Amino acid sequence: MRKIVIALDGYSGTGKSSTAKEVAKALGYIYIDSGAMYRATTYYFLENQVDLADAKSVENALSNISISFSGNQVILNGDDISNDVRTMRINENVSAVSAIKEVRVAMVAQQQQIGQERGIVMDGRDIGTVVFPDAELKVFMTANPDVRAERRQKELAEKGIHEELNTIKVNLLDRDKIDSSRAESPLKKAEDAVEVDTSYLTFNEQVDKIVELAKGIIHAG
Ligand code: DC
Repeated sequence: MRKIVIALDGYSGTGKSSTAKEVAKALGYIYIDSGAMYRATTYYFLENQVDLADAKSVENALSNISISFSGNQVILNGDDISNDVRTMRINENVSAVSAIKEVRVAMVAQQQQIGQERGIVMDGRDIGTVVFPDAELKVFMTANPDVRAERRQKELAEKGIHEELNTIKVNLLDRDKIDSSRAESPLKKAEDAVEVDTSYLTFNEQVDKIVELAKGIIHAG
């Protein structure tokens, strides 16, 4: 059967990652969380006190970073850092790191390499616009900021992290602003993307909707 690439982009906290994971499972596809790659890079930069304003240090650091996935685990240079990349410390720094041109060039190259095989679902901010402009299915996910903040709070609480709703909302809106206004591949809806507002959809409804869209394309081709 024909294998396609599904690009799932959208604002922070719209449920992209969990949705993409389930869509991949339903289709027997590989799921790649591109945000986790930017988070892993941010983690490395913070741990190694890389000066973001110094291009040489950034390039040197990037040459020392190897990111891979093992099931749901994010592996940085051989270490499982899955929990370390979901903290507020990373949330507060990841947009600045992912706005750096050299960082984006390195991440996009790795993502395109992974996608060569097709049969993947990748979620992020620039997947339909920059990484896979030829993706057969592009989805742009939105949801209102209060719903998104509540979802993030729940996600953090499940990891034992308790954070004020307003702190989370401010962080989400800040990231939206930085992600949408940066010079390098800003977050924007691809012209041929289908917009899905998840504010009032249950998780299963949003997964089903995207799986149906994908099946329509797979069976048509
Ligand atoms: O999807 P997420 O919240 O885990 O992403 C974390 C950050 O990484 C997000 O604020 C912006 C950045 N990002 C990006 O610039 N491009 C992507 N393709 C994915 C994420």
